[in-house]
Amino acid sequence: MAETGKDINKAKELLEAGQLVAIPTETVYGLAGNALDAEAITKIFQVKGRPRFDPLIIHVSSFDKTHLYADNIPAKASDLASAFWPGPLTLLLERKNIIPDLVTAGLPTVGIRCPNHPLTRQLLEAVDFPLAAPSANPFGYISPTTPGHVADQLGARIPYILDGGPCRVGIESTIVGFPNGTGTVYRTGGLKIEEIERVIGKVELKIAASADPKAPGQLHSHYAPRKKMIAGNLEDLLARYPLPKAGILSFQKNYDAPLQIILSPTGDLEEAARNLFSALRKLDESTAEVILAEYVPDTGLGRAINDRLSRAANR
Ligand code: TXA
Ligand code: MG
Repeated sequence: MAETGKDINKAKELLEAGQLVAIPTETVYGLAGNALDAEAITKIFQVKGRPRFDPLIIHVSSFDKTHLYADNIPAKASDLASAFWPGPLTLLLERKNIIPDLVTAGLPTVGIRCPNHPLTRQLLEAVDFPLAAPSANPFGYISPTTPGHVADQLGARIPYILDGGPCRVGIESTIVGFPNGTGTVYRTGGLKIEEIERVIGKVELKIAASADPKAPGQLHSHYAPRKKMIAGNLEDLLARYPLPKAGILSFQKNYDAPLQIILSPTGDLEEAARNLFSALRKLDESTAEVILAEYVPDTGLGRAINDRLSRAANR
C-alpha cells in the first residue's frame, strides 16, 4: 500500500529509480514518472489502464526548460507562459526527439505545463528530468483532488503519494495548441478562455466530444462515475426520478433531497470547480441509484465544469 507523506527527498529518490509517485498540483493529482525514461512511462500506462494512443503531459519547473523539450516555440506560447505559468495551462508544442514516442503517442507535439503547487515545484527543481503525469485515476474515472482519492484507487499499485492537501483549482489544466499559428483550445480547464484571449486574442475551440481515439483528450466518455449519471435541468430530471433513489448534484440551489451536494451555495464557479470531482465521487459511493446533475452557467470556469459533467454523463 502506498505511503502518503510530504517527503520530497523520498519522492525524488523513487522517481530517479524509475518508480511512480503521485504528485499534488493546483488542478488535480498526477501520476508522475520520469518523462525521459520509456520504462517509467510504460508503468504509467499500465497502472492507469490507459490506452497507448492517449498522450501524456510533461511537467517542468519553469518556462526556460521548455526549450530542452520543444522546438519553434511560437510567441503566443511564450506570452501565455509568462502570463499564466506556473498555472493551470498546458501548451502543445513541437516536440524534440529527446521525448520518447510513448509520451506523445507518436504525435509531433508534446503537452508541457508548469504546475503551481509548492511541493511539486520543489520536486521538479530537485530532479533533472521532466515529469510525465496524467491525472492519478484509473483511465476514464473521475480525477483525484485529494491524496485519499489517489490512495483509494491506485494505492495498491504505487509506492508513494506526495501529500499536498486538497487541490486548489480542482479541475484539469486548459490545453492550448497553435496549429498554423492559431491559438486553439483543445480542453477547457482551470484557466478561463476569457483570460487566454486577453493575452493572445481570439482562439479557436476544438473541444468537440468524440468517440474517435485519434482525437486525444476528446473522448466523449470520461471523468465518469460508475453509476448511471444524467446531466440536464434538475427540475425536469426530478420529475422523472424519485428523490430517494437519486443523488443530486446541484450548482447553487437546495432541492431538499436526502442525498444532495450543492457545489457552491453562493453561486461561485471557482468554488464549484474545486468541489466538483469530490462531489461526484461521494455520490458515486453513496446509496443513490442514479446521479442527477445540473449544468452551471456556461461562462468562465463554468465551461470546463459543464464539459466534465457532460462527459461524466456520457457512458
Ligand atoms: O491539470 C492537468 O493537466 C493534470 C495535472 C496532473 O497536470 N494532468 C492531466 O493529464 O489532466 P491527463 O493525461 O489526465 O490529461 C491530459 C490530456 C489527455 O486527454 C491527452 O489526450 C491530452 O491531454 N494530450 C496530451 N498531449 C497531447 C498532445 N500532444 N496533443 C493532443 N492532446 C494531448
Ligand atoms: Mg485525466
